[in-house]
Amino acid sequence: MERQFKMVAKTLFGLEDVLLEELKKLGAAKAKKGIRNVSFYGDKGFMYKANLSLRTAVKVLVPIRQFKVFTEDDLYNQLLLLKWDDYINVNQTISVSATVSGENFTNSHYIALKSKDAIVDYFKNKYGKRPNVDLNSAHLQLDVHIQNNTCTISLNSSGSSLHKRGYRSATNIAPVNEVLAAGLVLLTGYSGHGHFIDPMCGSGTILIEAAMIAANIPANINRREFAFEKWLDFDEDLFQLIRQAQLNKIREIHYQIIGYDKAPSAVRKALDNIKNAGLQDFIKVEKLNFFNSEKPFKEPCTLLFNPPYGNRLEIDVPVFYKEIGNTLKQSYPNTEAWLITSDFVNGLKNVGLRTSKKIKLFNGKLECRLVKYEMYEGSKKRKSKIINKKKYNQQF
Ligand SMILES: C[S@@+](CC[C@H](N)C(=O)[O-])C[C@H]1O[C@@H](n2cnc3c(N)ncnc32)[C@H](O)[C@@H]1O
Repeated sequence: MERQFKMVAKTLFGLEDVLLEELKKLGAAKAKKGIRNVSFYGDKGFMYKANLSLRTAVKVLVPIRQFKVFTEDDLYNQLLLLKWDDYINVNQTISVSATVSGENFTNSHYIALKSKDAIVDYFKNKYGKRPNVDLNSAHLQLDVHIQNNTCTISLNSSGSSLHKRGYRSATNIAPVNEVLAAGLVLLTGYSGHGHFIDPMCGSGTILIEAAMIAANIPANINRREFAFEKWLDFDEDLFQLIRQAQLNKIREIHYQIIGYDKAPSAVRKALDNIKNAGLQDFIKVEKLNFFNSEKPFKEPCTLLFNPPYGNRLEIDVPVFYKEIGNTLKQSYPNTEAWLITSDFVNGLKNVGLRTSKKIKLFNGKLECRLVKYEMYEGSKKRKSKIINKKKYNQQF
C-alpha cells in the first residue's frame, strides 16, 4: 500500500461541514474540521482523487515541515535546511505564496520573497545555478503559513484555486465563485433526487454545480491542470486510473434542472458555460422574469439563487425583495426556497416570509446569509394587498 500522509483541504468560511462530509464520502482517513479547512490522511492516489472530486475545496495542501520562527532570518535558515531537490530539479520553476497571522509577522509578501530566496540560494550553493520563478504554473508551488510563531511549509498540490473548474468561458455580472456555488447546493441538502431551479441564474454557476452533483460528475474533470502533474513523483498511470474510476461513478439525472434570467446576455453566457461543462442535455435555461414565472411542475423542488445585491447592481432593494417573497408565496408551492444575499437588513426583512434556516457565509468579502423558506401547498395565497405586479416588474 502507498504511504499515507497528512493533507489539508482549504475552503471558504461556512463550508467546513460540507467539505468534511465530502472528504468522508471520498474515503479520507482521520478527517478533522478546522477553521476554513479540513485536515485528513490519504495516499498519493487519494490526493489525486481529492483534487479531482472535491467540490468545496479551494486547495489541497501537503504539509512537509513545521517549525518555530521568530524572525525572517529564522525562516530563511530553516528553509535552507530542507532538501529541495527531492521536489524539483534546478532547471524547473518555483512560486511561493504566504499567509501570516498574529503579531510577529505582518507582511506576507515579504515572507514569500524571503522563502523564495532561501530555495533559490539552496540550489545556488549546491549547483551554482538557480531555479526560475513562474507565478502562473510553477513545477513547485509552495505555501508558507505563519500563525504567531509557528510556520508550516506545504506543497500546494492543486495549483491555482480549485474554483477554476475549466467550464467558465465568460464572466457575467457578479458570478458566484464555483466553490461557493457547490457549497450552497450541498448546504441545501440537494443531491439530485428532485427538481432544481435557479430563477436568477446569471452565468449558470449554481445550475452547473447542481447538475454535476446530481450526476455525480467530479467537480474538476474539465480543469486544465493540477500542480501535482508537474511533480517529480507524478504517476500518470495512477492518475488516469483514479480519473476513470471517478468517471465510472457518474449517474443519470432523472429530474429537471432549470434556470431563468431576465437578461438575454446572462442567458447566453449561462448556455455557453453549460455547453463547456457538457451539461446541455441536463439543464434548461429560459429568458424569463422570475416575478412573472410559475413553478413548472407539481412535484416538490429545490429553488436556490443569488439575487442581485443592492451594493453592486442598481435595484430598489426593499421593493425587489418584497417581490421575491410575493412570487414565492403565490407561484412556488411545495418548494424549499433558498437564497443568499448580503442585503440581510434591507433585503431579507422585506421578503415577508419566515426563514426556517439562516447560515452565515461570505461571497468574496461580503458577509452574507443563506436563508431557507419552506413553501407549502397551502402557502399559495393570492392576497389582495399584494402590490400590483406589473408596476413592480417595470422597475426590474
Ligand atoms: C447576482 S446575479 C446571479 C449570478 C449567478 N449566480 C452566477 O453565478 O452567474 C443576479 C442575476 O439575477 C438576474 N435578475 C435580476 N432580476 C431578475 C428577475 N426579476 N428575474 C430573473 N432574473 C433576474 C440578473 O440579470 C442577474 O443575472
